[in-house]
Amino acid sequence: VANPPHTIKLNQNESSVELPADLKRKIVRELERRPWARYPDYPPVRLTAAIARRLRIARKRVLVGHGSNELLYALAQATLERGTAVVLPSPSYAVARLAATLAGGRIATFPLDRKFQYDPETVVKAVRRHEPRLVFLPSPNNPTGGSLHAGPVAAVAEASRSLVVVDEAYHEFSRIDLLPLLRRHTNLVLLRTLSKACRLAAFRIGYLLGDPAVLHRVERGKPPHSIDLPSQIAGEILFGEETLLRDEIERVIDGRDRLAEALGLLSGVTVFPSDANFLLLRVPNAESTYLYLLRRGILVRRLAGAGGRLKNCLRVTIGTSFENRAVLQALTERFGRRPA
Ligand SMILES: Cc1ncc(COP(=O)(O)O)c(C=O)c1O
Repeated sequence: VANPPHTIKLNQNESSVELPADLKRKIVRELERRPWARYPDYPPVRLTAAIARRLRIARKRVLVGHGSNELLYALAQATLERGTAVVLPSPSYAVARLAATLAGGRIATFPLDRKFQYDPETVVKAVRRHEPRLVFLPSPNNPTGGSLHAGPVAAVAEASRSLVVVDEAYHEFSRIDLLPLLRRHTNLVLLRTLSKACRLAAFRIGYLLGDPAVLHRVERGKPPHSIDLPSQIAGEILFGEETLLRDEIERVIDGRDRLAEALGLLSGVTVFPSDANFLLLRVPNAESTYLYLLRRGILVRRLAGAGGRLKNCLRVTIGTSFENRAVLQALTERFGRRPA
């Protein structure tokens, strides 16, 4: 990821708001108390228990990873062999594609609709046609923002004889709850992260939820002790905080909906529906718009490299209200309002 000089960083879907200083101090104090000369717990017992307690599920249904990216690689390693198919949407999260390719998987994509949303029937058809070992469904999808509801996810799990991974990195912002599906579908796993709504991207913490036998198998694709002590402590403490998370989610959803509405009024700008903490925009010329924003200190994600339908698209993370206003002002000056 390119990080040229900027003052407003909206290119990696992180939070622009740091955790409160007293919570950070609590994490640091706890880190001082624990031994540094010893390997960290593996599996991370306290963190796993904190996640299980918060979600009201059994501990054996939780597998913690060094960021959700590590779990993506482990999932690919544990399920794929050379030439076996992986079904995923196009466009989608590039790291998942990379992990699957490195594990020897053959990528079989299905398209999103005109507005970059999932069409549940298309997903089921792709699963039936390719008979994949792994189905990868980011929901909300990155970089497009559309999500799948519980009904369609259940239909895909039923249609599939293999493992279905719903990557829920942004699920907090979609308010869709897939957790109850795990009881009925043992071939379904949910992948989550503390890097987005939980504001802990600098610590690397992700987790997988699902059937204990499946998680056990995925664990074999992971190196031991991969979750370092600072990450374990930060995660344990964060999962003890209830309202902190709720306030951040409300703030982001509100900012997203306001910005989407305002940008939708600009001439030549298309805003695609998003359930995540970012917006996908199509503009008349993405490269020059990217550079124009950067000259104003605003760094967003350019997607031209992804090609195809993302040509002339930019992805903008929802920031603070000050940052969102700066984006709106810059793009309003560039494109002007659409005539009424
Ligand atoms: C869909 C999706 N999955 C997973 C990740 C990786 O998250 P983590 O920081 O937990 O590795 C990202 C990060 O941007 C993402 O967009």
